[in-house]
Amino acid sequence: MENNRPSWTSRYAFIITTIGSAVGLGNIWRFPYIMGQYGGAVFLIIYIILISTICFIPLINELYIGKLTKKECVGAYESINPKFKPIGALNPITGILIASFYFIVGGWIINYIYKSFVCNQISDFGAYFSEFIQAPLYPCILTIIFLFICIFFTAKGVKNGIEAANKVLMPLLALILIFLVVISLNLPNANLGLEYMFKPDFSKINSEMVLAALGQAFFTLSIGMGALLTYGSYIKEDKSLVKSVYTIILSDTAFAILAGIMIFPAVFSFNMEPNSGAGLVFVTLPKIFSQVPYGNIISCAFFVLLLCAAITSGISIVEGPCATLIERFKVSRSKACCILFFVISIIAIPATLSFGILDHVKIFERTIFDFLDFFTSNIMLPLNTLFLCLVSGWYLQIKGNRIIKNSLLVLLFDFGLRFVVPIALICLIIMGLK
Ligand code: TRP
Repeated sequence: MENNRPSWTSRYAFIITTIGSAVGLGNIWRFPYIMGQYGGAVFLIIYIILISTICFIPLINELYIGKLTKKECVGAYESINPKFKPIGALNPITGILIASFYFIVGGWIINYIYKSFVCNQISDFGAYFSEFIQAPLYPCILTIIFLFICIFFTAKGVKNGIEAANKVLMPLLALILIFLVVISLNLPNANLGLEYMFKPDFSKINSEMVLAALGQAFFTLSIGMGALLTYGSYIKEDKSLVKSVYTIILSDTAFAILAGIMIFPAVFSFNMEPNSGAGLVFVTLPKIFSQVPYGNIISCAFFVLLLCAAITSGISIVEGPCATLIERFKVSRSKACCILFFVISIIAIPATLSFGILDHVKIFERTIFDFLDFFTSNIMLPLNTLFLCLVSGWYLQIKGNRIIKNSLLVLLFDFGLRFVVPIALICLIIMGLK
């Protein structure tokens, strides 16, 4: 079994799939609305500082542990110390829980691609959105379709499925994004949107914003559920990880900023509110698309862009638990994918229904969807990352000079891995629990 482990065909394949995992709904849906809620430019500055410093460490750490152990999450922790096995098992469990709410939004996107062509029949987009997500059957079918797409690519294997999908979808995503940015920048008053994004008002800084930026940075880089550990374990060659990690962070940030440049000028040009929260992409933007020439084509392009981003991330969310099933339980890849399809559906369907007929079911005062989002993003992801940093920094005592050449960076890495990142993560968990 060990010898049959898949691996990336090239360094490019590894980088593009990891960027594919990172660039997702987090960049195009979540980043602009969180930035909108926290006041624009200042949030962006703090975010860039955090993503290029504090987040660099757990990102490289997770990939490195995968590369070092050449195992999926549970096996990786087990090979460090058999007692750590249960901690490793938290990773695939987190993956399944994340899939169960992430894929619901994937389903919504599919609906909006279809609706792009009939959106002139909609008069009130806000009312349409809430009616749509409350329906009992249709959103569930869409969730299952999206789940099926991600599982399909995962089932085809690392080379023919995961790599192949990313090699096609990521360049397509970049092209569509650039096309939409150009259109948005040519709208009247586009400069207001750019000002909002790039002209900071430092009086808006507060600790809540800093932690929100940190949480967003961890989420967008896919840190904390073993997806990266699994991707790292498929690295064959012994090249330095540092350059790849820089490329991944840079590309992910570029995609997020471009998503902002695509969305905010349009929002300002049409006199809409930039801080409308999660509805920014599903309510505000469709309203704008309905008012511009060739709106259906632009709307379709936008939601196809979102779908590509969500699929490549969705694949990485499934691959972690999939690798665990294959290597721990010795099942075939297709069987592992069938099991995951079943398990994720069982959690995702009630979560999808929690906007409608199951909205009275509350877990710790939250609906099922909100609970899954809250519990994974605020607690499980930082907790898994915290464990991995403590294991490599304090138990394995991994020193930066094994990974990094530059001696100043090595010092920062060692200090960051043992102190700064764990403390930041603990703050994040405490704030998340409030
Ligand atoms: N990073 C992806 C996004 O921005 C989501 C994602 C994929 C993810 N894999 C993950 C988040 C693993 C946390 C952990 O949308």
